Amino acid sequence: MNADDRPDETPSPSDGPTPSLEPHQVFDRVGGLPAFEALVESFYARVATDELLRPMYPEDLEPGKRRLALFFAQYWGGGDLYGRERGHPRLRMRHAPFPIDPAAALRWAELMAAAIGDQGFDDEVDQLLLGYVARATPTLINQLPDEVQALPRQPGE
Ligand code: HEM
Repeated sequence: MNADDRPDETPSPSDGPTPSLEPHQVFDRVGGLPAFEALVESFYARVATDELLRPMYPEDLEPGKRRLALFFAQYWGGGDLYGRERGHPRLRMRHAPFPIDPAAALRWAELMAAAIGDQGFDDEVDQLLLGYVARATPTLINQLPDEVQALPRQPGE
């Protein structure tokens, strides 16, 4: 093929796949902190009536709401919003006081996915947020069922 036979490679906005959204661009795409506050409101409204998760949360849900909204806003490109109030996230350490077994983690992820679905974000944003929840939630499991704890191990372990 000589150069003249090649298709025009000048990109045009309507050509090809949509440029993929970078995680740090989500904050601007959704309209900043208020969008994360709305997401967290929707999530906490579900937690408030959830028989598995509600008992783990303190009576006053407001401080936790704010922290989660700031954390998400920071994670998705809003700058040091969480860090200014709380320092390094250290999520595993901060969740250590709560008995998070696989069932609790799954419920958390389901309620968050439902809350994300309620926001009317565009598909690219939904995919990034849902992917994060699916990856991050299992890392916070700190209680395994007895059957798992009792699996045979190497002698000496
Ligand atoms: C993607 C997964 C998760 C993220 C990003 C996340 C994030 C956070 C953040 C940022 C805080 C506030 C930390 C602080 O500054 O004190 C928090 C608190 C908390 N999280 Fe999570 N979390 C996740 C999963 C879970 C799961 C699976 C559970 C339980 C099933 C859970 C239960 C709690 C509780 C009970 C608090 C304390 C709330 C309060 O003090 O009002 N979290 N979480």
